[in-house]
Formats: sequence, structure tokens, C-alpha cells
Amino acid sequence: MTNKMWGGRFSSKTDTLIEKINASIKFDYRLAMHDIDGSIAHVNMLADCSIIKKKEAKQIILGLEEIRKEILEDKFEYKIELEDIHMNIESRLTEIIGPVAGKMHTARSRNDQIATDVRLYLNETINEIIVLIKDLQKDLSQKALSNFDTIMPGYTHLQIAQPITFGHHLLSYVELFNRDKLRFLDSLERLDECPLGAAALAGTSYPIDRFLSSKALGFSKPMANSLDAVSSRDMLLETLSNLSILSVNLSRLAEEIILWVSSEFNFVCLSDNLTTGSSIMPQKRNPDGAELIRSKAGRVIGSLNTLFIVLKGLPLAYSKDLQEDKEPLFDAIDSVNLSLKVMTIIIKDIQPNKDIMLQAAKKGFAIATDIADILVQELNIPFRESHKIVGSIVAYAEKRNKNLEELDIADYKELDQRITIDLVNKISFDTIIHNKLSFGGTSPQNVNKEAKKWLKRLNV
Ligand code: ARG
Repeated sequence: MTNKMWGGRFSSKTDTLIEKINASIKFDYRLAMHDIDGSIAHVNMLADCSIIKKKEAKQIILGLEEIRKEILEDKFEYKIELEDIHMNIESRLTEIIGPVAGKMHTARSRNDQIATDVRLYLNETINEIIVLIKDLQKDLSQKALSNFDTIMPGYTHLQIAQPITFGHHLLSYVELFNRDKLRFLDSLERLDECPLGAAALAGTSYPIDRFLSSKALGFSKPMANSLDAVSSRDMLLETLSNLSILSVNLSRLAEEIILWVSSEFNFVCLSDNLTTGSSIMPQKRNPDGAELIRSKAGRVIGSLNTLFIVLKGLPLAYSKDLQEDKEPLFDAIDSVNLSLKVMTIIIKDIQPNKDIMLQAAKKGFAIATDIADILVQELNIPFRESHKIVGSIVAYAEKRNKNLEELDIADYKELDQRITIDLVNKISFDTIIHNKLSFGGTSPQNVNKEAKKWLKRLNV
């Protein structure tokens, strides 16, 4: 038998391989609830516009609600020979309510149907991602507040550069993820138009009211061009781009955590329940969660690339190529969703080894730049000159295996006669970090204020 939904002109059964390549049900089943919502809005609109009878609409909607229940209770049987979610639902509807089910597809096509389902799905999942980003921001801000004065080395070129606070470092990610959140929020605006009623590509001669069905589904208006409505997938590209940027940002934090928990750094500890062991090396505690977040970024960017390549040069309007948009989209959403949740529990758990961080900053001569600044101010000399003097101070300390705070006035005098005891007293990590009061700077005072500001903004 040919396909029940479109088999009218066919005399032989579809080849099983064609059936296999054609079927999308193994992944588009995820759109079932949105598909039912879309059908209900469509059918109500058809009845309101007197295209079908109110009684028929009621029958169809009751049937759809029954199917919704079957799906939610895991009792619905998806069939590959019915190709996709739309035809699986319509076929089951026919079983439940009989031939009146056939009226549901009046004045629509699977082309506008799938475009609508995906937009509804995007709206829901983008909102979920936004909430998850917010959760992560909250935990980062909380951890920043409890570490507003925890000193650690800040790096450039992965070489110790200047002392910063751990809180400041964490808050930099709060800012970064906030821009990710804003990108998603912004994209919701472009998502706010409904393709339903564009039909196959040309619109329809039935007297439908697209504003009505669009409103019923929560969109602010219908898409203005029927060809655009069924063929555009830029919203998926935009979402995948936003997911890619977010996953790259997550991967940078993940990488820092991987470095920090390594025995070489040993800056932070992760609890046992967040690390994994090795089957051969008994001593290992691996940060697999963070490593996988780091690598998921590759997967997400791969999904974006896949869709770019599927869409490149594809003529309007609908082509079956467009069916290939869903697996990469779902995979990217799932990856980012999980990564955000895992990153949040890692951040909540992470405990800084404060003393080790401070010692690393000291060993790495992290205050050298600040000493140069102090010399400029105290000795009234050009920065270039003080840079040179401090260079010799660092070389002197390194030779004697000391850090800069451990040098005494005699050492300093040996290097430059102009250096006084008052000046040497200013050379302390504590004083230096507290002086970083410039807007956006790392002083504990700033960090405390910023962390509290974020917690307030995030409603904690
Ligand atoms: N499963 C299809 C997709 O995901 C739905 C639209 C099919 N349309 C068609 N004319 N065959 O794109």
C-alpha cells in the first residue's frame, strides 16, 4: 500500500530505503506537543472562519487532546511508514475520530506546519536556556561574593601577570554570559512571527485568518510572505550561532577549571561527586565534566556549520533538505542545556585553595608592575625608567629565590639608592590589590559591590 496521506497518485509502494531516508519521525517526535498546539490553533481558526463546522473542530480537538495524553503517557506508537510527526498524529486522529480528521489539513501544508512547530520549539527552548544562563550567573556571583578578596594571580599569555581577586575573575564570566543571554533574548523578537497558513508556499484561497491562529499560538503576527514563511531557516542559524558563542564561552571557563584543578596549579578543589576516577591509575580525580563542556563547543559549532552548508544555495521555497535542520538543532540545544547545568553545579561546588593561589601570585612576581607604578609616583621618574629598575629587582629576587615582598630595604637600596623604607612598606599584595579602584578594576571593594549588584539584578 502507498502512503495513506499522500498516496493517491501512486501505484506502487515506496521503496524501504526511500522510506528510511525520508522519515523524520525518529527525531521530529520531539515536536509533538507543538504540532498538536499548532493544529488546535489552526482548526479553531478554520471553524471561526466558517471553513469547517464548529462541531467538526470540536471533534478534531478532542481527538488531538487524546493523542496528547497518549504521547505524554508514552502510549503513542510512532510509525516510520508514516514519515513524520505530522502524519503520525493525523493518522492516529483518523483512527480515533474517523474521516472528519481529514479536515484538519485544510488550508495548510506540512511546510508551514513544520516551520510553525520549530518556531514554537525554539521559543520554548530559548527561554529555558535563558533561565539556565541566569542560574549559572547567580552561582558565579555568589561564589564571587564569598571570594571578593581572595587573591590569585591574573594571567596574560598564561604567564603570571598581576594579582587579581578570584571574585573578579568569576564576575568576568557573569558579564560574558550576560551578553549571551541578551543575544538569546534579542533573538526572541525575530521569532515572534507565525508561518502557519502560508500553506505549501503560495498561501491559500480559503478565507483563513492568519492573525487569529498566530495570536492563539502566542505570536504577535503572521509572517508577511508565504514563501519566506516556509523556506527561511535563519532563525535556526541565529539560534545555533548564539548557542555556538555560548558554548565557546563555556569552554573557556571549563578550560580554566581544568587548569585550576590540575596538580600543577592546584588552585581549586572539586568534590568527589563531581570528578571521576581512572580504571588504571588509582590516584586520579579527573574533571571529566569540565572537559566534556570544553569539547561540546566543537559539536555545537559543527551543528551550526551543518546547517550553513544545508542552506547554502538552496532555492526557494521548501526542499526536503530543510528536514536536515532538526537533528543538528536538537543536538546543539541538548549539548548546551546539559553543559549549562553541569557548569552550574561545578561552580557551586568549587573551593579555592586560597593560600596556594596567593603563593603562586607571589612566586610569579605578580606585583612587579605595581612596584613600577609606585616608583613612578614616589620617585617622580618616567615609567620606562621604573620598568627597568623593577626588572633588575625581579632578577635580583629570582637569583636569591625570594619573592618581591621578602626583599628588605637593604636589598632595595643595593638596587637603587633612592628607594626609601616608606616606599618599601607600600610593596604589599594587600595594599596593591586594594588600590585597584579604577572602574571595572579588581579591588575587593569593587568586587564586593559588583557581586552584590549582580545578585540583586538576578533576583537572588
Ligand atoms: N518532515 C518535514 C521537515 O521536517 C516536514 C515537511 C515535509 N514537507 C513536504 N512537502 N514533504 O521538513
